[in-house]
Amino acid sequence: MATESFDKDATVSREDALHPPMVTVEISGKPFQVPAGVTLMKALWYTGHEVTRGAGCLGGFCGACATYYRTKDDPKVKTCLACSHAVEDGMSFSFAPPFPARKATYDVTQVADPKQALFDLYPEAPLCRNCNACTEACPQNIDVREGVWKAVFGDFKAVSETFMDCVMCGLCAPVCIADIAPNFVGVYASRAYGAREMEKPLGLSERIQAIEEGRYNDDWERILKMTDEELQRTSAAIPS
Ligand code: SF4
Ligand code: SF4
Ligand code: FES
Repeated sequence: MATESFDKDATVSREDALHPPMVTVEISGKPFQVPAGVTLMKALWYTGHEVTRGAGCLGGFCGACATYYRTKDDPKVKTCLACSHAVEDGMSFSFAPPFPARKATYDVTQVADPKQALFDLYPEAPLCRNCNACTEACPQNIDVREGVWKAVFGDFKAVSETFMDCVMCGLCAPVCIADIAPNFVGVYASRAYGAREMEKPLGLSERIQAIEEGRYNDDWERILKMTDEELQRTSAAIPS
């Protein structure tokens, strides 16, 4: 379900910074007062919750902070990333627990027929019942159901584009009535496309070849012997 994003560029007046207006939120069933406008993650810290799992990049990229929430008087439970969603008065939220979805193991470069292998690795993928719950659950607004169907029909290029913004939060898996983990299906199809179909950028191939030929070995030796101070000085001197 689409969620309101936290506005990272919003400015705060001096008075609001010193005496912020407060809102009431419910965290894992208990009410707390927190400053208006902070992210759910900051609300957890503000209220003294020890976040030992669920805090990663803090920038909406790693998917570690998958969260369920409900707004005041609305029975519908929605999803968001706690590091990039702002609190609202009357909101209730809690982190999503880890979900034990099955992840197939494979070496995508060794698969004889990547499109056929999808059905061996994830035989449940074609059993999608079109309920759209995965799309509803996705905090990144990805058309997850469409992505699963594109994978089943072998259009791996389209799958990789569909799942481009996937942060692997895993919120699409627990809601699937066909026991599909759509994110893992998306990752497999994207990897297969990247490894087997996509034309490699010329510059990338040249750089990989140079690395394999050892052209940068001396530079690495030198960098690995540097002290912290030398590293800081050297990186500060690199033009941006
Ligand atoms: S793991 Fe699923 S719910 Fe999370 S961003 Fe990726 S597609 Fe969306
Ligand atoms: S939740 Fe599962 S069954 Fe429903 S549309 Fe998504 S992949 Fe298909
Ligand atoms: S902590 Fe990485 S997406 Fe929230």
